[in-house]
Amino acid sequence: MHRPAVPALSATDPEIARLVEAEARRQFEKIRLIASENYVSQAVLEATGTVLTNKYSEGYPGRRYYEGQQVVDPVEALAVDRAKSLFGVDHANVQPYSGSPANLAVYLAFLEPGDTVMGMALPSGGHLTHGWSVSATGKWFRSVQYGVRKETGRVDLDEARDLALRERPKVIFCGGTAIPRTIDFPAFAAIAEEVGAVLVADIAHIAGLIAGGAHPSPVGHAQVITTTTHKTLRGPRGAMILSDADHAKAVDKAVFPGLQGGPHNHTTAAIAVALGEAAAPSFRTYAHDVVANARALAAALAQRGFDLVSGGTDNHLILVDLTGKAIAGKPAAKALDRAGIEANYNTVPFDPRKPFDPSGLRLGTAAITTRGLGPDQMPQLAAWIDAAVQAAGDEPLLDRIAAEVAELMAGYPMPGWA
Ligand SMILES: Cc1ncc(COP(=O)(O)O)c(C=O)c1O
Repeated sequence: MHRPAVPALSATDPEIARLVEAEARRQFEKIRLIASENYVSQAVLEATGTVLTNKYSEGYPGRRYYEGQQVVDPVEALAVDRAKSLFGVDHANVQPYSGSPANLAVYLAFLEPGDTVMGMALPSGGHLTHGWSVSATGKWFRSVQYGVRKETGRVDLDEARDLALRERPKVIFCGGTAIPRTIDFPAFAAIAEEVGAVLVADIAHIAGLIAGGAHPSPVGHAQVITTTTHKTLRGPRGAMILSDADHAKAVDKAVFPGLQGGPHNHTTAAIAVALGEAAAPSFRTYAHDVVANARALAAALAQRGFDLVSGGTDNHLILVDLTGKAIAGKPAAKALDRAGIEANYNTVPFDPRKPFDPSGLRLGTAAITTRGLGPDQMPQLAAWIDAAVQAAGDEPLLDRIAAEVAELMAGYPMPGWA
């Protein structure tokens, strides 16, 4: 049953209440390997459901355009202070509605329409908002894109440097959405310095690993850092922009009034709670466990003959290249879902297939680590993944795997479910 219970919702809108209940059960029973997802704590869940959602607070603590901020101001100030202390930065803006608006605010802060931005290409692991052609960031700005080396599947820093020297971008993005290896922030900082660009590290995927000491920090290398709060950081859906003191004013002006109106105060409170949780010693253990699980799962998949982009992982994320298999990413992801294992199909670098029907599967271990699974269980997960991918179309077999998966997950508590 969903926890907290939702009696008023059930009475007012039983249709939505039933769907909420169904989603909670689905999350409880499945092995959730979508790399951008997690389970928030009961405390974070409760904070998102508070009366703070009723309040408008355009502006910043102490500088609002509406009255009645006696409570919201300290809520936002707490979130800001916790973000600054957790990541060791001069400035934090906790208002962006999500990761994409956070990145858009960076464009507004540091670029004029038509200016040059450099980011990692989407098929290589970059995010849409790093200047990919279909995104507003690729349409309204002049975007140049670097990729990965074919032989290693790792970021091609020589290409990135050559491109930067040739194109002179004003902003350089590093980080991305499907990068299984450590991001070399000092190397990007050297490139940015050489061409006088603002370096923006988008740490959306790895923020929790950085907070927990399981990935190097971009602080001191990137002047501006954007992140979502809902992936490895294990907070509510939201985002933050962190920066040094020199870039703070431009960031704040871009978020409000540049791009957004009133901040979502219930989300701000939940971000503060998540940041408090991430500062606890147990979160360091969690972050390292996420990586240990990813490494163990990668090794078990490789042993079963799966090709992994870059040969493995340094973080929470594994990119499986199915090019050499008899199945593409989309039918594989659908078979896995039927077998109780949630993943997403994904392009792989130099993918011969189209983005909507690509050759890869992206897996991540943030959510299963929150549930309490450990490295010893990763060979079993790899065995189920292997069996499900081979059994695509064999519904009875996929159902049998789903039942085994649900039986395993029944032994691991989930916040939000009782
Ligand atoms: C690296 C990166 N940046 C930005 C975003 C955008 O975040 P949102 O989906 O919250 O807009 C994502 C989302 O997956 C991401 O992976």
